[in-house]
Amino acid sequence: MELTNLLNIDYPIIQGGMANISTPDLVVAVSQAGGLGVLATGGFSLEEIRENIHRIKQATDKPFAVNVVLLHPQIQDLAQLVIDEGVDYITCGGGNPLPYFDRWVKAGIKVLPLVGNVKMAKKVQEAGALACIFEGAEAGGHIGALNTMAELPAICDAVDIPVISAGGIYTGRQILAAEVLGAQGVQVGSRFLLAEECPIHINYKNYLINALDSDTLVTGASFGHPVRVVKNRLTDQLQKLEAEGASQEEFDAMARGAGNRAASLGDTEWGSVMSGQGLAYFDKIQPAREIILDLMDQYKEAKASLLK
Ligand SMILES: Cc1cc2nc3c(=O)[nH]c(=O)nc-3n(C[C@H](O)[C@H](O)[C@H](O)COP(=O)(O)O)c2cc1C
Repeated sequence: MELTNLLNIDYPIIQGGMANISTPDLVVAVSQAGGLGVLATGGFSLEEIRENIHRIKQATDKPFAVNVVLLHPQIQDLAQLVIDEGVDYITCGGGNPLPYFDRWVKAGIKVLPLVGNVKMAKKVQEAGALACIFEGAEAGGHIGALNTMAELPAICDAVDIPVISAGGIYTGRQILAAEVLGAQGVQVGSRFLLAEECPIHINYKNYLINALDSDTLVTGASFGHPVRVVKNRLTDQLQKLEAEGASQEEFDAMARGAGNRAASLGDTEWGSVMSGQGLAYFDKIQPAREIILDLMDQYKEAKASLLK
């Protein structure tokens, strides 16, 4: 898949940026293993982001990216920070990246924005994106409306830049499926939650391992901010609020700080345990390198068996 040449990496696998979660240990482990590690900016101050970039650069010479969260409270300064720090690659999500494109492209940064539909894919291509990432609604965390199977080929047909498939990639077979649908690589988020180097609380990891395939649901859709999470007491309450027609303020008051409650404090009942739909595959904690190698072995095996 083309992504390896484009990013100068060994395997066509990007580790999705995850707010509060994808910190230097995970990023370095993924990049050292031959994928593209992606540093989170969501949930971090500019100083912390700068420090984290320095930590990654000290730990590895391999390529990595910074995930610019467009809803960051200091987005203007963050957009400049990645330029000042000489970051080579950025992914971006959570908003419209177009206002920042010129600056980034002029500075030589290679931009891989998240797109949710054909129209946006065409716009980022025109603005100079190196590639675009289409994330299907199978994904964990904040999601769009369209699913991978239905939409990915349409995006691939609509643009000439490489398209990366995110959402729903938990085995190598799904990487092959993404390739068949036209993708040049994949972005994996949830599966890396079970990486040894992923800094979330052990309770979060165990909750994912013990959950059933049917345990994810989407909250917040009625307020236009759908988030895929694993069900627990918090989601029961959030769904109840939405069903009762509660105001956004009431909803936000209950959801506020929930990501941190799960990821840092290990409260899997009242925290937000975000995950994609691949719970059926989550059975153990492994080093990031092993996750990448497993995915690639499964991919090669699936490809060989198809060609038999
Ligand atoms: C816990 C969690 C946090 C996430 N945070 C972000 C984020 O801050 N910025 C972003 O662009 N995407 C974010 N994502 C999306 C991932 O980068 C990735 O696209 C997605 O997880 C892929 O789908 P999958 O979960 O099915 O692998 C997050 C996903 C998860 C599971």
